Amino acid sequence: MTTDLPAQPAMALIGAGTIGTAWAVVFAAAGMTVRLFDADAARLPAALDMARARLRDLAAFGLVDDAPEAAMARIAPTADLAAALVGADHVQESIPEDMEMKRDLLARIADIAAEGCTIASSTSFIEPSRLFDHVAGRARCLVLHPGNPPFLIRVVEVVPATFTAPETIARAEALMTRAAMAPIRVNKEVEGFVFNRLQGALLREAYCLVRDGVTTATDIDRIVRDGLGIRLAVTGPFENADLNAPGGIEGHARRMGPSYARLGAERGQNDPWTPDLVAKVATERRAALPMDQRAARAAWRDRAVMTLLRARRDVLD
Ligand SMILES: NC(=O)c1ccc[n+]([C@@H]2O[C@H](COP(=O)([O-])OP(=O)(O)OC[C@H]3O[C@@H](n4cnc5c(N)ncnc54)[C@H](O)[C@@H]3O)[C@@H](O)[C@H]2O)c1
Repeated sequence: MTTDLPAQPAMALIGAGTIGTAWAVVFAAAGMTVRLFDADAARLPAALDMARARLRDLAAFGLVDDAPEAAMARIAPTADLAAALVGADHVQESIPEDMEMKRDLLARIADIAAEGCTIASSTSFIEPSRLFDHVAGRARCLVLHPGNPPFLIRVVEVVPATFTAPETIARAEALMTRAAMAPIRVNKEVEGFVFNRLQGALLREAYCLVRDGVTTATDIDRIVRDGLGIRLAVTGPFENADLNAPGGIEGHARRMGPSYARLGAERGQNDPWTPDLVAKVATERRAALPMDQRAARAAWRDRAVMTLLRARRDVLD
């Protein structure tokens, strides 16, 4: 396999539901050719309508360069799996989250796809070593997990299996970058990867709080949307804690760590922020932002939140 990308990569999208159709938008908007396959041919016209509507919206917001019809002209629907795979540089499987169904289909895809073609699954939870262990040429296979929808959430988790070749990872990352996605490497295969583990932590606690009558689902949505979320739209949780607390992330962990450990213990979790762990995070934070630049960064963060608040007035008030 070569890590060089062709001038116009040919993408075979398998499954034309929510995610497959959204991938079609991402790749067609990036100038790639797309074959969109679904086992249910009746789904294809609706998928094309959806892709056209989203491309028009993105163009109206100035978020894509090409005219929507030019991008649509690069998407070819097909109800024939082999036809979708002929000449493909990359396959992106997005069928329902059913391990056996995916394993069956991925084996068929690997038998047909050319040797130099990367094969990825959009699976939300299943580790690639469990999805691809049985397929031909498994060194070209990995998980590329998007958020929903990938034409708005521009990060994609890159999850190699134990048997994925380094060239496959490099090529997949180059393809994603070409498609204006930010590839983020997941270093260990854990169920749910990183995106859904973080999302799950928030949802688990939210359900507990509703169950225990502490608050309502509506008020949790307001606290996240107007509270936590507005800051998290411009900083991650570690940067946020680092900017908020005197003494940075280490000061935050010293002061707040014991309280958070008690909340975790209440939910049956015993994962304290040990000094070693905090030091590891602090090392990354200080490499990203020296201690004496935190105030300037916090002022930047506040102005970024102001920009978002101004934009949200149009849609939320
Ligand atoms: N929806 C999300 O929020 C989200 C986000 C990230 C990743 N994912 C993952 O993406 C994958 C697809 O999810 P979705 O939400 O798009 O599902 P979906 O149900 O919207 O679409 C699945 C599509 O696959 C088709 N299909 C079923 N069996 C097939 C087969 N054998 N060959 C070809 N097509 C087949 C169906 O007809 C359907 O159109 C799942 O693995 C899911 O976990 C979903």
